[in-house]
Amino acid sequence: MRLLLLNGPNLNLLGQREPGIYGRSSLASIEITLREQAESEGIVLDCFQSNFEGALVERIHKCMGQTEGILINAGAYTHTSIALRDALAGVAIPYVELHLSNTYAREPFRHQSLLADRAIGVVCGFGAMSYSLALQGLLHHLRQS
Ligand code: DQA
Repeated sequence: MRLLLLNGPNLNLLGQREPGIYGRSSLASIEITLREQAESEGIVLDCFQSNFEGALVERIHKCMGQTEGILINAGAYTHTSIALRDALAGVAIPYVELHLSNTYAREPFRHQSLLADRAIGVVCGFGAMSYSLALQGLLHHLRQS
């Protein structure tokens, strides 16, 4: 099985960016941990990060026929991007939305997600562990269906 971890804008700065909110783990270390977790389950995990909406859309398109599930932290695009919503709907690949922070405990504009209602589930508020929990949830869903 092959899965994709997608990270959106500013998540390349993890570890340095607002550590009180997002923690001290870098994106590279999160990706290494998650790849190991996936490998221990016999799964190949591809990782992609971009600050550009169109690049994220194109990476989602590339999943067709290649990827069975997507983990997505779309960063701020979560709250604004109809294009990402449409891309995920277009490829019809199951996905889990995740966030390091509890977006519902933050500014009102972070309470809306354009991705959540079509996701298998949403994980937020557990810092770097949100990635691991999201992977567990996605695998559970894919193995059931
Ligand atoms: C985030 C939450 C978003 O609101 C924010 O724009 C981010 C990170 C999170 O992981 O907590 O960039 O997705």
